[in-house]
Amino acid sequence: MVRRPIGIVVNGVTGRMGYRQHLVRSLLAIREQGGLPLADGSRLWPEPVLVGRNAAKLADIAARHDLTEWTTDLTEALARPDVEIYFDAQLTRLREKAVRLAIEAGKHIYVEKPTADTLTGAVELARLADAAGVKHGVVQDKLFLPGLRKLARLVRGGFFGRILSIRGEFGYWVFEGDWQSPQRPSWNYRVEDGGGIVVDMFPHWHYVMEDLFGRVTAVTARIATHIPERVDESGAPYRATADDAAYGIFELEGGIIAQINSSWAVRVYRDELVEFQVDGTEGSAVAGLRECRVQHRAVTPRPVWNPDQPETTDYRSQWQLVPDNEEFDNGFKVQWELFLRHVVEDAPYRQDLWAGARGVQLAELGLRSAHEGRRLEVQPL
Ligand SMILES: NC(=O)c1ccc[n+]([C@@H]2O[C@H](COP(=O)([O-])OP(=O)(O)OC[C@H]3O[C@@H](n4cnc5c(N)ncnc54)[C@H](O)[C@@H]3O)[C@@H](O)[C@H]2O)c1
Repeated sequence: MVRRPIGIVVNGVTGRMGYRQHLVRSLLAIREQGGLPLADGSRLWPEPVLVGRNAAKLADIAARHDLTEWTTDLTEALARPDVEIYFDAQLTRLREKAVRLAIEAGKHIYVEKPTADTLTGAVELARLADAAGVKHGVVQDKLFLPGLRKLARLVRGGFFGRILSIRGEFGYWVFEGDWQSPQRPSWNYRVEDGGGIVVDMFPHWHYVMEDLFGRVTAVTARIATHIPERVDESGAPYRATADDAAYGIFELEGGIIAQINSSWAVRVYRDELVEFQVDGTEGSAVAGLRECRVQHRAVTPRPVWNPDQPETTDYRSQWQLVPDNEEFDNGFKVQWELFLRHVVEDAPYRQDLWAGARGVQLAELGLRSAHEGRRLEVQPL
């Protein structure tokens, strides 16, 4: 078997996403399966070059996974001729500058969302990448979750008839840090560090809505900072300046209305941490990370409002589980494989920096809608 090595700078590899999802569960997982089989019979073999600020942490990760290539000098990593792809999972605020350097160095670009911290920056990156003739992509992992893949299958199979509305519920309690350690990095709660749930989650909701249901045409949002003070990783209290909850209404082409709650200050009484209910004239579905349940028009029960009687109907039992019908791999890995094929075999790839910029646009408009207290239309980029 011929191995075709491909050098990939992994910047921000010490972070939650960079290490676990992208290095271990994607790039190293591709190696564990013997590389990515290509059309010419060879196997693409990712060769990660770890980049970060802390040499000791990089050396430790490299040693743990039998890797040899790491550096704290991004320019040096980008100068390597064997590096073809620059991947960025750093703090969002740092992304734009690093991606610009990588484009200048002629590398293909793959980045975490949001692609930049302003729409102007995100559009500029997409333009620069196009002008340089490099391939580019943004992580849209939720599209590859089993629950959402099954939901997409229902949409494409015409299950819903005319789709009326979507209601999304996302969130869980993120500990304040005083009596139990917080399960997310503190920068997420500081607007000056690029934090906030709108900036974090609206890009996700954007590509989910756009890919499954159609273009988002308008947004109305209300945001809140429910927990104004938190305690950081070192035990020091800090003021949470960023929004930790967002209540958004999105209008989609075709008249579909989506309403999505996102919160880090909500306790879970749901089957999964994110759930989308889609109602259509012919049927409804509720999709989570893994599962998807449906109720067809023909089997829709007739609930009767009667507060004088105790509830005797188990509504949840009236829904039918959508079968897997295929094997679902880790979503981050599936998307890496698509992007790698796009780079080396020119396979089609939709999740580019323009799609990323549209996600940043929705986040920016969501924040503006909340600050100005009004509905805003989304202009095509
Ligand atoms: N696709 C997803 O589902 C998903 C989920 C969470 C986060 N993200 C995105 O991934 C990126 C990283 O998020 P994360 O949760 O892994 O964050 P994290 O704090 O765990 O990691 C941040 C990375 O940036 C590096 N960094 C560089 N300069 C830094 C500085 N001054 N302060 C702190 N870190 C610095 C850190 O060393 C680390 O490698 C963000 O852009 C975020 O929006 C995506």
